[in-house]
Amino acid sequence: MRKNIVAGNWKMNTTLQEGVALAEEVNAAVKAAEHNCDVVICVPFTHLATISEKICKDSLGLGAENCADHKSGAYTGEVSAAMVASTGAGYVILGHSERRQYYGETSETLREKVALAFENNLTPIFCIGEVLEERENGTYFDVVKKQIVDALFHLSAEDFGKIILAYEPVWAIGTGKTATADQAEDMHAFIRGVIAEKYGKEVADNTSILYGGSCKPSNAKELFAKPDVDGGLIGGAALKCADFMGIVEAFN
Ligand code: 13P
Repeated sequence: MRKNIVAGNWKMNTTLQEGVALAEEVNAAVKAAEHNCDVVICVPFTHLATISEKICKDSLGLGAENCADHKSGAYTGEVSAAMVASTGAGYVILGHSERRQYYGETSETLREKVALAFENNLTPIFCIGEVLEERENGTYFDVVKKQIVDALFHLSAEDFGKIILAYEPVWAIGTGKTATADQAEDMHAFIRGVIAEKYGKEVADNTSILYGGSCKPSNAKELFAKPDVDGGLIGGAALKCADFMGIVEAFN
């Protein structure tokens, strides 16, 4: 059966020193806390190797926020999936809306990134979600289905089964405007149906689908109580240990 997961996405925040201190604080808090979920932090590339040495990965997973769409070579400034894996990280966020919006990521490049993540035994946390206009004009189910179909439905059932999905409505990211628990559940149930149509009910039931977008201690419990919401991908609230733990402890 699918896992409950709370994953932090630190985005472009913290210096190395601040990041190491935060990771150590979170690691200690996770070990001490009662919770019934996997916990992961996804941090800037520059922090991975150092944090990897400082945390106990049995209790706290470590991931990158992106990886390159090429294996290696003349791609100045890029960081490959193999480089990420060589730090000891086990996860990589792919297709975050900020990468799609500001760095032109397409389903085509994301297919390459997913393949390279698998080659290097990284678990993709694959993000999907509609923008405000699509929410308002009612096309949001079609938009999210297309993102999944175009980037992931070439995969075998075995490979698809290794993906963690994160539904992040773009209008809820960093805005303080959370999707209601019912809005999240409607979309998560829809996504599970789309997966079931393609890969069957067992694969669909085993896929963890996280919610992301202004998730905080005060709304996490209600969101996570929904049957198809299997946890959260947390931005701003992942930068303060107490807030992040408030969300982790929503699973207890
Ligand atoms: P916030 O939690 O800051 O809204 O960010 C969500 C997000 O983008 C996580 O990937």
